[in-house]
Amino acid sequence: MSEPLRIGIAGLGTVGGSTARLLVTRENELSTKCDRPVRLVAACDLDRASDRGVDLSAYWVDDVMELAASDRIDVFVETIGGEGGIAYETVKAALGAGKHVVTANKAMLAKHGRELARLAEASGATLNFEAAVAGGIPVVKALREGLVGNTIRRVYGILNGTCNYILTRMEAEHLTFEECLAEAQRLGYAEADPTFDVEGFDTAHKTVLLTSLAFGTETAGDDIYVEGITRITLEDIEAAAELGYRIKLLGVAMRTDTGIEQRVHPTMVPQSSAIARIDGVLNAVAIDGDFVDEIVLVGPGAGGDATASAVVADIVDIARNTALPMFGRPAGELTPYKRAAMRAHEGGYYIHCLAYDRPGAFAAIAGRMADHGISLESIVQRHRAPSADGADREAARNAQPVTMITYDTTEAEVRTALEQIERDGHVAEPPRMIRIERL
Ligand code: HSE
Repeated sequence: MSEPLRIGIAGLGTVGGSTARLLVTRENELSTKCDRPVRLVAACDLDRASDRGVDLSAYWVDDVMELAASDRIDVFVETIGGEGGIAYETVKAALGAGKHVVTANKAMLAKHGRELARLAEASGATLNFEAAVAGGIPVVKALREGLVGNTIRRVYGILNGTCNYILTRMEAEHLTFEECLAEAQRLGYAEADPTFDVEGFDTAHKTVLLTSLAFGTETAGDDIYVEGITRITLEDIEAAAELGYRIKLLGVAMRTDTGIEQRVHPTMVPQSSAIARIDGVLNAVAIDGDFVDEIVLVGPGAGGDATASAVVADIVDIARNTALPMFGRPAGELTPYKRAAMRAHEGGYYIHCLAYDRPGAFAAIAGRMADHGISLESIVQRHRAPSADGADREAARNAQPVTMITYDTTEAEVRTALEQIERDGHVAEPPRMIRIERL
């Protein structure tokens, strides 16, 4: 056998703890598979008392910065988390010292991916990040290796289990967003502060990484359209179901004539599509390549063991010397990211208006759509009074929901039409819209 590969882990939380347990309990098996010893030699965390399912007393070190650049390790595993701070500092220190790095830190890579890819290349080190996108699903490997012969047209996915759990429960149990969020928190699927998940930022970080992998562009973490699920109502979900759709929070990376669309938003997807059938906390990533057409990978996007599975796969790649450039091409070959304007986005739209029940209101709304060349696939007046509070109650009593599905149009036309509909005064609240993804 060759020289051992020596691993140090920084951050022994859910993911780091499972990774340590996997490495310690499967050392022999992994070493056989790699034809060299693959060995945990150091672990660092402020909390030494928690039970990680394995005895780590032989591995503890105190100083994480010292560990990052230590001669005792070949691979620095960063499972601390956070966009900057100690995670970012230690990864830079490790790469600077020529250590390979394996990280699950999507926030850091979305923000600093371009710089870290260059740093890794300059020092001859490998920076692997399978665990940063869709947890246990090997999507980085699929894009960098399995589909390398393809020109990728679009990558999209359900990349956040918390949001998918909430949307699935809302539809299945006819519950509100708030009720499902509370249940997700009770079950430990959602954080006490769920902002990062439900406002779409976690999905955005993963989408940014998928964009760079798919299109060979520099990471552009600050240049992505993000809309979360907090404004999705049970009424939207039920209307979508009646129209043959389900609502999913999607991260989409897509090449267009004017640039790359990098967007996160609630999306109506046809009930017949593979992505529509992904329920609960599962993640799914669909990759559309010109030679393969579409493949869909489904699996657990979170959780200690599933994510540790991805971390260990990255370590094994390093042990086998099969490691690749971070985004599948040399850092110097990454092209600048050119964002396609969201207003130029083309697609179908679901639109919800709460229209006053009086002659001409319906016609005026449809007329505004026609003014903007928007053709309607369906328009339905629903005879259901929504619940409303306080001053809104009287207005809402005299209003009825109107839902429309448009044929393909542009976001600019839809937004302008909706602004005019609101100004015309036939609606009791600002109209809402949800984009439809053609799959
Ligand atoms: N919080 C994420 C989720 C997992 O709910 O899917 C980590 O990115």
